[in-house]
Amino acid sequence: MATSSDAGYTVTLLPHSHPDPNTWASLVSHHKNLRLRSLQISPESFSSTFEREVAFTDSDWENRLKNPLAYTFIAAKVPTSLKENGERGDELDDAVHGEWVGMTVLVGPLDELPNNLTPNSKADGAPQRKEVPVESEIFAVFVSPEARGLGLGKRLSEASIAQGKVLGREKGAKEVVVRLSVARGNGKAKSLYEKLGFRIAEDEVRVEDEEFDALRMEMRLGL
Ligand SMILES: CC(C)(COP(=O)(O)OP(=O)(O)OC[C@H]1O[C@@H](n2cnc3c(N)ncnc32)[C@H](O)[C@@H]1OP(=O)(O)O)[C@@H](O)C(=O)NCCC(=O)NCCS
Repeated sequence: MATSSDAGYTVTLLPHSHPDPNTWASLVSHHKNLRLRSLQISPESFSSTFEREVAFTDSDWENRLKNPLAYTFIAAKVPTSLKENGERGDELDDAVHGEWVGMTVLVGPLDELPNNLTPNSKADGAPQRKEVPVESEIFAVFVSPEARGLGLGKRLSEASIAQGKVLGREKGAKEVVVRLSVARGNGKAKSLYEKLGFRIAEDEVRVEDEEFDALRMEMRLGL
């Protein structure tokens, strides 16, 4: 499992399932709560809305984590008791027992999404070409206000980018493209992405969401 621990916070890739029903239920519920919190606290940052997602059923939330094309990373504060008594197990334990303060989701490869129209698309029956970059997209980046400015947004984004590279390597690609949308007025997030190496994707053809005025950004990485 891809994880990193630093400054009392762990960044963990959530599994797509878990053999222990209590652990799985806890992951699904923590994820739901943090996502809904992000939509309440920062509605201007997202194209979705609290009103839309608060209506999701438990199985909708479960299916979000089960989606094999979605890689959900969370940042959690490592519980002090676990740090002090040296009983730390794996990072998922820290996540389950810790306070969740940040998240992001990488979706990819985009050509495997239903109804996708990217150049990698196999819809025409053409064989996958290794010369075509493997594309993925970052969604739902959020850090709770009390944990901002500690580098967690950067760590979560870097974890997603690293996952995008894993997907590219799995497909034998020579290049990956990681995409995202950022609200035009969200200077803080835009500056975070620029420092990581994202650039405005000026030539991307995309139907704009009229409710959400966003810039499209992309990062291209050779493998
Ligand atoms: C954008 C967001 C994820 C940043 O998270 P964060 O954990 O505070 O970010 P980090 O601590 O990793 O900071 C990384 C970079 O973000 C920018 N940044 C962070 N805090 C900032 C601040 N108060 N003012 C300006 N820029 C800031 C800086 O570029 C910083 O780089 P630096 O470390 O070289 O200064 C967080 O503010 C957030 O959740 N905002 C609301 C939701 C949102 O906008 N999501 C993005 C959707 S595209």
